[in-house]
Amino acid sequence: MSLQFQLIGYPIKHSLSPWIHERFLSKANLQGTYEINEIDLQDSFEDRIMEMKNNKKLNGFNVTVPYKQKIIPYLDSLDKHAEKLGAVNTVLINKDGKWIGYNTDSTGYVRALETKYPELTKERKSKHVLILGAGGAARGIYCGLDFAGYVNIDIANRTTEKAREIAELRSESTNTKILTLKEVESDLSKYDIIIQTTSVGMKPNIKNTIISLNSLKPDVIVSDIVYQPIKTKFLKEAEELGARIHFGHTMLLYQGLYAFEIWTGLSIDIKNMDEKLQQVLEGR
Ligand code: ATR
Repeated sequence: MSLQFQLIGYPIKHSLSPWIHERFLSKANLQGTYEINEIDLQDSFEDRIMEMKNNKKLNGFNVTVPYKQKIIPYLDSLDKHAEKLGAVNTVLINKDGKWIGYNTDSTGYVRALETKYPELTKERKSKHVLILGAGGAARGIYCGLDFAGYVNIDIANRTTEKAREIAELRSESTNTKILTLKEVESDLSKYDIIIQTTSVGMKPNIKNTIISLNSLKPDVIVSDIVYQPIKTKFLKEAEELGARIHFGHTMLLYQGLYAFEIWTGLSIDIKNMDEKLQQVLEGR
């Protein structure tokens, strides 16, 4: 039997997801395909989704911008992460033909971070986390950390109102302070983990950083979800100040891995894929 997966979104012609999932399929010794199914903004979304519903060979698909919310009315049920976030990036089509929505961005980020720094899994409650930015990515990461058991997660953003909206999603035991980017610049030394979630520093604007880093905690982890370039100026500056760093492209791998596990029920070893994906990105 050959499995069939797809990615919907716009624009997605340059997506790395086919590269990632084709390798997962091969590592799992499974026959299958992962295809780009771009839905143009002028197309009827409903018609395109109905075409997919009629494709009885489809086993599941990923959803990316701008359709992560728009897909929800077409689903039969949602997992708790997707429900809380109000956004779906993975759909499983089960053997009864039911469409089940998941969000693997949130868990994927935390898994990527904790795979690189496994000691964090035992220290979630004591770590003080700072999220920079308050867009869709920040929202997923905030909920992922909250679900995983981190209880001190502050958010700094240019527009504090957006950060406040994200903090409304917190569970009872989580404490969140909202700060401006200016305020947080002078208060960085209390954080154990700093996560940059905006597009600031992405190619071609590689000279930009969201805040200037100074007086960091000695063993702080600084993470940046931007992966073009792999080592952003923000990460370079953090490294020069003695921080341990964490690259954004690993988030792509782990959100993909979690989707693959949902679709196939299989767990695979993705050792070395991190370096291979890095080479692919550096060749672009
Ligand atoms: P995504 O869904 O990919 O996370 P988004 O929703 O456009 O993207 O969110 C972008 C985030 O980056 C926002 O928090 C935005 O700040 P505002 O909420 O104030 O708009 C932040 N951002 C983008 N460009 C920025 C810049 N030059 N300086 C500071 N923050 C920036």
